[in-house]
Amino acid sequence: MKKGLFITFEGADGCGKTTQIELLKKYLDEKGIKNIQTREPGATELGVELRKILLHYDKPVSNVAETYLYLADRAQHVEFEIKPALENGTVVLCDRYTDSTLSYQGYARKQNLETIEKLNEIATGGLKPDLTIVFDIDSLLAQKRLSGEKDRLEKEGLEFHKALRLGYLEIAKKETKRIKVINADDTIENIHKKVVKIVSEFIDKL
Ligand code: TYD
Repeated sequence: MKKGLFITFEGADGCGKTTQIELLKKYLDEKGIKNIQTREPGATELGVELRKILLHYDKPVSNVAETYLYLADRAQHVEFEIKPALENGTVVLCDRYTDSTLSYQGYARKQNLETIEKLNEIATGGLKPDLTIVFDIDSLLAQKRLSGEKDRLEKEGLEFHKALRLGYLEIAKKETKRIKVINADDTIENIHKKVVKIVSEFIDKL
C-alpha cells in the first residue's frame, strides 16, 4: 500500500523545473523529510537506454513508437523505483510523468487524448501523482532559455511548444485539486517560495 507522497513537476523545455526540484529537495532534506529526486525518461538502467533513443535517435520516429518508448520507460520506473519508494514512506519528487505524455504526445503530436490516458493508466498500473506542479511559461521565452545542443524534442518548432503549453493548461483546468500552475517567468527565489508554499500546505493536510 502507498504510504509516501508522490509529487510530479511538469512544464515545457526551458521552464526551469529542474532547478526548482533541486531547491525543493534541499528544503525537504533540511526539514528531515525523507525524499528522492527522480525523472523521466531515464531513471532506471533500462530507462537510460530508452532515453538515448528518445532524445537522440536521428532518423524519423513514428508518433506511436515515440509514445510507447516513453511508456516503457515509465512502466519500468514505476515498478522498480517509484512504488518501492512510496511504500517505504518516501516523498518522491518526479521530473515529468503522465502529464508530459498527454501534453507532448497528445496535444502537441495531436494523438488521441483518451488513448494516451488509457495507455498511461496501463503503464503506471493506475498510480497517479498526489500533487502536480506545472511551471507555465511563454513558449518563445522558454525556447530562448534553452542552452547547448538541442535534443530531438527541443528541436520541434514554436507551434509544437505552444500546443504543449496549452495542453498543460487544459489538463490543469480539468484537475484543479491535483494540479497547481505556477508562473515560471519570475525569479528563482520567488518561484521556490511558491513551490514550498504549495508543497507544505499539501504535507500539512495529510
Ligand atoms: P529532458 O532533457 O529530461 O527535458 P527536461 O529537462 O525539459 O525535462 O528531456 C525530456 C524530453 O522528453 C522533453 O523534451 C519532454 C519529452 N517528453 C515527452 O515528450 N513525453 C514524455 O512522456 C516525457 C516523460 C518526456
